Amino acid sequence: MVKKTVYFDNAATSWPKPEGVYKAAEIYLRGSGASPGRSSYTQAIQVERQVFETRERAAAFLGAARPEEIIFTLNATDALNMALKGILEPGDHVVYTSLEHNSVNRPLHSLCHHRQVTATMVDSDPTGFLNVQEIANAVNPQTKLIVCTHASNVLGRVTPVKEISRLAREKGVYFLIDAAQTAGSVEIDLQDIKPHLAAFTGHKGLLGPPGVGMLYVRPGVRLRPWREGGTGSRSEEDRQPEMMPDYLEAGTMNAPGLAGLNAGLKFIQETGIPAMARHEQGLVQKLVAGLREIKQVQVFRPPGNYPSTAVVSFILKGLDCGEMGHLLEHYYGIMCRTGLHCAPNAHRTIGTFPQGTVRFSLSYFNREEEIDYALQAIREIARGLQ
Ligand SMILES: Cc1ncc(COP(=O)(O)O)c(C=O)c1O
Repeated sequence: MVKKTVYFDNAATSWPKPEGVYKAAEIYLRGSGASPGRSSYTQAIQVERQVFETRERAAAFLGAARPEEIIFTLNATDALNMALKGILEPGDHVVYTSLEHNSVNRPLHSLCHHRQVTATMVDSDPTGFLNVQEIANAVNPQTKLIVCTHASNVLGRVTPVKEISRLAREKGVYFLIDAAQTAGSVEIDLQDIKPHLAAFTGHKGLLGPPGVGMLYVRPGVRLRPWREGGTGSRSEEDRQPEMMPDYLEAGTMNAPGLAGLNAGLKFIQETGIPAMARHEQGLVQKLVAGLREIKQVQVFRPPGNYPSTAVVSFILKGLDCGEMGHLLEHYYGIMCRTGLHCAPNAHRTIGTFPQGTVRFSLSYFNREEEIDYALQAIREIARGLQ
């Protein structure tokens, strides 16, 4: 086979980006360059308008009622830290799940060790199914927060966030969604799901550049700021301005990143999530069917129809995942992620800890020929093991 370049690591960060994303970042860097919200000269005001436009577009796209409910962050990790460390106090209890990424697990670990927070982990079943009743059973009188990923980055299965949100409201606790894997791939309507907080990343399904993310903060939810400093507003005051989004957005903004995110969001709005998801799910079905025909392959995707992202985890029995990743890249030019994908408890649940899995994560820009090519590569590698 002639070696190609195939990118199957979109759950880590998406690539390629829509053309408009490259252009928007370049236009900012070459043409304006000013810092938004700080100065009154024309270029700075133009950039401020662009940042506002991105905030407005993101709010409309995600179903937030007002633009200022969207806080720009560095990435989903930053947004999750902002939420967890901003809301949890000594003595609070938090419920989380075995599907969480380390960007939830590690801040919680640190809060449990340094801020006298306690946490209970609820296991999913081996298919990534979360039982909402088990989450309810884990809530106790000290529980302040339930945090849950919207889709596992290992298994792709979408979690029932609307039901969990309802449960949180019934129990009188906050609900934080980690939507790093779903935004841009699965329709999200914050008015319908009604979480208190939701963390997003700009560089995966939203197709923006790295270095941008978002935190949705429902009105009335008060967080301690994760960072404080210059905002360009109320500069005469020592304390952080209380108005949103300034309260949580200290420091010079990533204006080229936000310009790129705006273009990524625009592309998705114009193309439509249903059309994009149809294409991605068609590729997933072809990939899973082909993988299942290779007898040494075990695919971690339950049969049946359920909402999922375009993530497919598998192992080739008899070959270490890291070695498999190396062979795929070295001989076939296929880029993918191997190992634990920063979600060790998900692997404990599905029985692949500590070696992990090989993960192919697809995007709207992948093509059927790439799936055929990858399946042929895996068949060749599997034959070499016999
Ligand atoms: C479920 C989940 N949460 C959080 C993150 C962290 O995202 P970011 O790299 O934008 O901080 C990831 C990234 O892989 C993820 O998959």
